[in-house]
Amino acid sequence: MRARLKVLTVFGTRPEAIKLFPLLHRLERDPRFVSRVCVSGQHRGMLKQVLELMDIAPDHDLRLMREGEYLNIFTSRFLAAIDPILQAESPDLVLVQGDTGTAFGAAMAAHYRRIPVAHVEAGLRSGNLDQPWPEEFNRKAIAALAHYHFAPTARAREDLLAENVPAERIRVTGNTVIDALYWMRDRLRCEPQLAGTAGELEKLAAGRRIIGVTCHRRENLEGGIARIAAALQAIAARKDVLIAFPLHPNPQVSGPMRAALEERARIHLMEPLGYPDFIRLMDVSHFMLSDSGGVQEEAPALGTPVLVMRKATERPEGIAAGTARLVGTDPARIVTEASRLLDDTGAHRSMANAHNPYGDGRAAERIVQVLARDRISHSIRQIS
Ligand code: UD1
Ligand code: UDP
Repeated sequence: MRARLKVLTVFGTRPEAIKLFPLLHRLERDPRFVSRVCVSGQHRGMLKQVLELMDIAPDHDLRLMREGEYLNIFTSRFLAAIDPILQAESPDLVLVQGDTGTAFGAAMAAHYRRIPVAHVEAGLRSGNLDQPWPEEFNRKAIAALAHYHFAPTARAREDLLAENVPAERIRVTGNTVIDALYWMRDRLRCEPQLAGTAGELEKLAAGRRIIGVTCHRRENLEGGIARIAAALQAIAARKDVLIAFPLHPNPQVSGPMRAALEERARIHLMEPLGYPDFIRLMDVSHFMLSDSGGVQEEAPALGTPVLVMRKATERPEGIAAGTARLVGTDPARIVTEASRLLDDTGAHRSMANAHNPYGDGRAAERIVQVLARDRISHSIRQIS
């Protein structure tokens, strides 16, 4: 066994970077580990923003993003590019997060090279391979081969057990997204200027209630985008709101959204916000309208209700806790639910005061403890 466990963390998108930096910060400064980082570059601009803010300098950047490339082509290019890195680095463990194409590809490539895999945010299931698509499959595929399954909630653990993942390989840690959020909130107290764009937005709102919006899910690309745009137009007919909508750079999202919503009164379209600005936006919003995974976890921790524009979610804990509601993409339903939160103070308060089920901000600490303990008691390759 090596004296220090060599961990290669592989990721490629904005949410992975946000959810991994608390762990990377710990691994980097812990003498029991050698931490190496490889980014696929599945995302470019949005990833760079987070890496710079968190002061993470990847050891390898595969720079794979191409506009509008189909999933199979990205995956095949990624597998070809990651293999020489795995061979050169020969890590004891490959660490992946969540359900993206990069996470799935890295886990599979590591497995093919007989390198154990640790999966952060394991066990989220909607039970429907079409929603989220293709992420439900990606997450299940990673679970089929991972050695460590770091489940954010007890519910995620149950779902892994139901797929016959051995109990001793699962640890309930909380979600590192809450660690990230608390870290950012503390930093914003000292450096409020990091959220200057959100500050400008509050001035622009001039007392009107802000509704934060995000949208990017692939299953919403056909039809969903137009329906969501119609709902936003209807909500913006009210004079007492300001819709703040940072657009995902996917041209299949930003193109139609701009065409439908640009220059509309009380709808403010923006480039993707930096993470500090986005945290501030969620904090000051009356509620969020979103199809994002991360927003379903972050907004409850800030006491902001979320209307989830999906038919199904792999994050049912927020729905059960009462902080989020599934509203789909039917414009009439979205408008009804939004109006309720705008007009019924009690309904808003009960969602805003609901408990955050996603963790206490100590998930990364727990994950490091598990990895460090196994480093001492076993050779990790022997137990995989
Ligand atoms: C990916 C993940 C999804 C995650 C989302 C977070 C997969 C299959 N999906 O979806 O799970 O929720 O990231 O945002 O991995 N683009 C840019 N600049 C960027 C990022 C993207 O221009 O910084 C454009 C590119 O044209 C790209 C397109 O957006 O082709 C789609 O990006 P992609 O990573 O394929 O899918 P997402 O919808 O972002
Ligand atoms: N986010 C951000 N700027 C934005 C929109 C989102 O920094 O303009 C952050 C947000 O705080 C969350 C993550 O990006 O942590 C969510 O990313 P996204 O919705 O793209 O992906 P998902 O969570 O659905 O996988």
